[in-house]
Amino acid sequence: MLTVDELVREIRTHRAYTHPIWDHWAARRLPPKSLAALFHQIQCFCASTRPGLAFPDGLDALGLEQQSKLIREIVASESGHGADLALMAGHLVNRSSPSIVFDEIDSQEKVEKGLKQYSDQLLSHRPGYDHTTGLLPETAAAISVFRRRNDASPTATWKNLGTALALEIVSNRSLIPGEKYAIVDSGNYGVRLDDPEMRYLAEHWGEIGAEQHHEKNVVEAVTAVLNVTNADLIGEGVSDFLDALAALWDALDQLLVQPHTEAEALPDQGLRQGATRVGAMNAPAHARGS
Ligand SMILES: [Fe+2]
Ligand SMILES: [Fe+2]
Repeated sequence: MLTVDELVREIRTHRAYTHPIWDHWAARRLPPKSLAALFHQIQCFCASTRPGLAFPDGLDALGLEQQSKLIREIVASESGHGADLALMAGHLVNRSSPSIVFDEIDSQEKVEKGLKQYSDQLLSHRPGYDHTTGLLPETAAAISVFRRRNDASPTATWKNLGTALALEIVSNRSLIPGEKYAIVDSGNYGVRLDDPEMRYLAEHWGEIGAEQHHEKNVVEAVTAVLNVTNADLIGEGVSDFLDALAALWDALDQLLVQPHTEAEALPDQGLRQGATRVGAMNAPAHARGS
């Protein structure tokens, strides 16, 4: 039977955890369209991981009140993170562009709509791209792992627990540090962790960050219940998430992070938001900085 230590080792050696996408992202300043399309895919994926749906109820139905409480704490701590992520994404797209792309970075709705437009522009020709949601098939597949939280059956609940374990360890130790490295430490966008627009990363990163708290909760939850009857299902939930995430990072890395294409570099005035400033922004196209 798998132990918690073995599950954690599996997670920390998986390609989803060790993926080079963060190094590649740090290696160049992404052009605004690529950055926006990247944040559209990441934003939609992250949003799908936040709601608990029927997962805590499934734990309650198994008599696991403490586990349910620990998961509910994680879900509650996610409130407001969608707006914070949109603020950061809008700010970074503005920083990567020679002129303002998003006039209202405080408007989650407007920023998310704009990010999707750039995603459509760069990725809609890809096989399997969903024009309604603007999702790559790999993003949709990663999101579908979290749809299982609609199912409160014992089988789904054990798998969901494994998925939560992998999600929180990856978020705390790979995804958030990776974003901080690519976005802040790289110096490519001239931002600092204590900039007000960067509060999403500031809140998630480090020893007192949200992800540290989430990891602690979910490791505690799994450690107390892992046994021969549920270990295989918990392990399946771990693998389902990691395999889908590795495929997602592969796709984003290949399509948006690594390429140097003309399409991504050219500004598109038509997508700019805020009519009053568009006139001033219709300056000649600028060469990108990298
Ligand atoms: Fe969050
Ligand atoms: Fe988390």
